Amino acid sequence: MLRSIFLYLSKARWARRLIVSWNLSRSVARRFVAGETLDQAIQAVRTLNAAGLNATLDHLGESVTTEAEAVRSADDYLAIISRICESGIRSNASLKLSQLGLNVSYELCRGNVQRVVRQAAECGLFIRIDMEDTSTVDRTIELWRTLRKEGLVNVGLVFQSYLYRTEKDMGAVLPEGCRLRLCKGAYKEPADLAYPKKADVDAQFFTLAVSMLEGLGRRNGFRPVFGTHDANLLTRIRAHAERAGLAPRDVEVHMLYGIQRGEQDRLVTAGAVVRVLIAYGAYWFPWYMRRLAERPANVWFVVRSMFAG
Ligand code: FDA
Repeated sequence: MLRSIFLYLSKARWARRLIVSWNLSRSVARRFVAGETLDQAIQAVRTLNAAGLNATLDHLGESVTTEAEAVRSADDYLAIISRICESGIRSNASLKLSQLGLNVSYELCRGNVQRVVRQAAECGLFIRIDMEDTSTVDRTIELWRTLRKEGLVNVGLVFQSYLYRTEKDMGAVLPEGCRLRLCKGAYKEPADLAYPKKADVDAQFFTLAVSMLEGLGRRNGFRPVFGTHDANLLTRIRAHAERAGLAPRDVEVHMLYGIQRGEQDRLVTAGAVVRVLIAYGAYWFPWYMRRLAERPANVWFVVRSMFAG
């Protein structure tokens, strides 16, 4: 119930206007958002790097509706790439296709992503394309294939274990050399497309993780990447990896900025490669609502912070 409310709010313009204009909500959101500027995000990367963690920068802003906004978003990513390459920090970048114009036109989006991925390739930087709601999955995979055909191999995708189709999609793209991050899925999807029960989403995550560990993911020479804060699931996945003869460093774990910080350190100490997705930017509202939807207990954190402040 709470999950549905927060997912509804994440798309509601009236809620965004109301909450973003409120200074207090801005400061509470800072638990999950590194700041509004690139300088603040770079500072957060440096702090994590010093603790042995890698980063990926995500400039917040989804679903742009005009060509000008989409081009501007791509330009922002070019600036991020330049800063990463100049500063020598250990970070790559993650982006959303809707932010680069997917809902305006596929061709516009493709041109924008090509610009970003080409510039990243020039300094050996990897770009991760996040997966959004199901209406975008086919176009996201198609775009990845187009980039791949052009020889751009520094780009990978995110798949969601809550979608029934993911097993088939994974079976198709892994042999094509796709670098995948597996996550559970953060959008509201109907029961005919996605597992409605969390237990099934978790079970499917493990099943898909096993196929990534046992061959398909490894054969193309990349580390399987698991984007989750679920410590129990990660323990099972890492134990399976060990049984399959993998070293701790052969498994990469991705988590979000501000979530399970202690677990991130614990994994680094245990030898895993850990990357933290650092979200930043002025357009933080939908991102923040999705984090509340994932864990209603965060609402109590918000309420406590407001009374404490
Ligand atoms: P789960 O929800 O089962 O939570 C397990 C435990 O983790 C909880 O008990 C709690 O302790 C902690 N936890 C989880 N979420 C928390 C939160 N918001 N606040 C505080 N604690 C929390 N989704 C998508 O659809 N497309 C995408 O491209 C991405 N990309 C992505 C990248 C990375 C690096 C991560 C970690 C996640 C994503 N996601 C995503 C989001 C993902 O699909 C999912 O919604 C969240 O990760 C929450 O699910 P968990 O797997 O963490 O486990």
